[in-house]
Amino acid sequence: MKINAIITIQIFFVLWAIRSSAQQTIPEVESLLSKMTIDEKIGQLNLVTPGGGIATGSVVSTNVEAKIKAGQVGGLFGISGPEKIKMAQDYAVKHTRLGIPLFFGSDIIHGYKTTFPIPLGLSSSWDMELLRKTAEIAALEATADGVNWNFSPMVDIARDPRWGRIAEGAGEDPYLGSEIAKAMVNGYQGNDLAATRTMMACVKHFALYGASEAGRDYNTVDMSKIRMYNEYLPPFKAAIEAGVGSIMTSFNDVDGVPASGNRWLLTELLRQRWGFNGFVVSDYTSVNEMVAHGLGDLQAVSALALKAGLDMDMVGEGFLTTLRKSLEERKITEEDITAACRRILEAKHKLGLFQDPYRYIDTKRPQRDILTKEHRKIAREVAAQTFVLLKKHRNTLPLKKEGTIALIGDLANSKNNMLGTWAPTGDPQLSIPILEGIKNVAPNANILYAKGANITNDTVMAKNVNVFGPRVVMDARSPEEMRKEAVEVAKKADVVVAVVGEASEMSGESASKTDLDLPETQKKLIRALVLTNTPVVLVLMSGRPLTIEEEMELPVSILQVWFPGVEAGNAVADVLFGAYNPSGKLTATWPLNVGQIPIYHSIKNTGRPQPSSTFEKFKTNYLDAPNEPLLPFGYGLSYTHFEYFDVHINKDQVGPEETVSVSVTVKNTGDYSGHEVVQLYLRDVVRSITPPKRALKGFKKIFLKQGERKTVTFDLRPNDLKFHNAKLNFVSEPGDFEVYVGTDSNTELKTTFKLVE
Ligand code: BGC
Repeated sequence: MKINAIITIQIFFVLWAIRSSAQQTIPEVESLLSKMTIDEKIGQLNLVTPGGGIATGSVVSTNVEAKIKAGQVGGLFGISGPEKIKMAQDYAVKHTRLGIPLFFGSDIIHGYKTTFPIPLGLSSSWDMELLRKTAEIAALEATADGVNWNFSPMVDIARDPRWGRIAEGAGEDPYLGSEIAKAMVNGYQGNDLAATRTMMACVKHFALYGASEAGRDYNTVDMSKIRMYNEYLPPFKAAIEAGVGSIMTSFNDVDGVPASGNRWLLTELLRQRWGFNGFVVSDYTSVNEMVAHGLGDLQAVSALALKAGLDMDMVGEGFLTTLRKSLEERKITEEDITAACRRILEAKHKLGLFQDPYRYIDTKRPQRDILTKEHRKIAREVAAQTFVLLKKHRNTLPLKKEGTIALIGDLANSKNNMLGTWAPTGDPQLSIPILEGIKNVAPNANILYAKGANITNDTVMAKNVNVFGPRVVMDARSPEEMRKEAVEVAKKADVVVAVVGEASEMSGESASKTDLDLPETQKKLIRALVLTNTPVVLVLMSGRPLTIEEEMELPVSILQVWFPGVEAGNAVADVLFGAYNPSGKLTATWPLNVGQIPIYHSIKNTGRPQPSSTFEKFKTNYLDAPNEPLLPFGYGLSYTHFEYFDVHINKDQVGPEETVSVSVTVKNTGDYSGHEVVQLYLRDVVRSITPPKRALKGFKKIFLKQGERKTVTFDLRPNDLKFHNAKLNFVSEPGDFEVYVGTDSNTELKTTFKLVE
């Protein structure tokens, strides 16, 4: 009787499993698969670019037209525009035996033609609706140009500002990174992937790319599973939970096996543990690069990648040229190829391409949907919300719209540097430089402009960053002559606005640096301007945290503006003249010097914490520098002032399934209205693996008029108390918790509660 019952239950589960797996397959795709030859299936796994985007490797695809017509291509990237896309789609649909449509990818990292600020800047807004909106606009514009698959969001946690690609992500924190990942995926994909104004997102780079040793791009990564699960993987998991359609592997190795060939990563974790059912694409030639990593020849690494769970091979054509041989030699099975092909076809199905391969092609749309006035207006508003006021000196800011303003700096009048890294679909010539923006916003002010200094005088550096066009332009004059002119201009003015920092390609891919100071020639310029005694405002541009200890100590105000995008000048002017009160908060810690890196707020206590910033022998510290960064995570000032008080918790004890609410009152006690990002950090005082001193677990952006106060309430839910333990189970453990709320990660405003069993 008992045995019968067990057998019945087992049969039920087998049938249920068969049924649910059958439910997941798409009849149209299965029927197509049944007609396809091996070569046709392999062709679908091949992603090529005919050029036109950024070739980030040494290889670009050749004979693209012939390959598409031969059924050897599943998708294209780096082309856009209804005419070109129609032509390529015709090759696939009209010339191949089964007429399987292509999909069209692109790197739309921070806007399509309406370029928004770089992602590190966007993250500094801490505004999820704003971020979602930027992605929605990017999708509307890209799909108007025929693109339906986007290699974004980049969600790599980065705690090393030497790494140039820190510019492309959301900074150091897994909680904030996860919220941003969800917002971006929702913005790109909307509710319906087949809609002609949404595109499939591709979350990247899976995984751990941001932890490249020494901040050197494409470098080795070696990390414990505990750190991976708790700190580096959460944004990917969040993107998957938000329904992201595809995922891109990273260049680095994970536990000794490059991500593109790592079965644990791509199958056991991604599909079996997390239940991801989209497709996986390699990064640019990352399959081939496993040869250089030392894992075998092209045939071996291609087979390894397919077996690991990689579905699509970007540019390298290892799949195209070697999988058939591997099949004949029984190194892979037909089912391996079919499974990958199925996922590609399912993506095409989700995009509605089988219903109509030309659905994203409409010659009327580019004119109607791309770079509209409305989009530019939003780009301007968004950019203003990403700027971080790093330092206020006296009441120089906001500026008055009258009198004489000395505008100094190459970056003040440089269209080529406004968009920032990874903006291949944007047009720098359409961007508003700061000089123009200031004239637009303060037409009655007298503006005197002087270049003052080259961005750098290092000619080798200039050559290395000028690969996509002139970003660093060397002046014919000597540095002394340029500085002299700037000083003279400054002396005539009521205020100096010096736009200083990096050129846009000093951060981004293959743009790592070991020195994060401002270039020496700009430092000299700043010192000279300060000596004029005219009040100085530094507008700082960079794609990463910089080491600006000296500038922070000077009597100047500093506004960090990242690379603000197509509306750069207008947005900067809006903030300088007070139309928008700065509210951005840093999403990556700014180090005091390069020796402190890697640096981030959620550090552990260690067994020998140093109680103050004074050096103590045999404590965790440095002989020659404090442990504290220059600027903490979450930091950012406002023209007004916010006071925090009355932190309150609704219960002292909570059970594991209960929610606890923490509230705090914030009052605007300064002279301007403004936004404030209220932050909540949690400390799990005792647990089975060493906890971080604080972890971000909540934030809310509020608006307070002058004199206004609001009470902000955060709900800490059961999952917020959980972490991955030594067995990698996601658990909470009973004990004391400390909750910190305030204006940045250093806040001391605290309450406590106990988690009971
Ligand atoms: C980058 C990716 C990008 C790809 C395609 C690679 O070099 O790492 O982020 O999506 O090129 O352009």
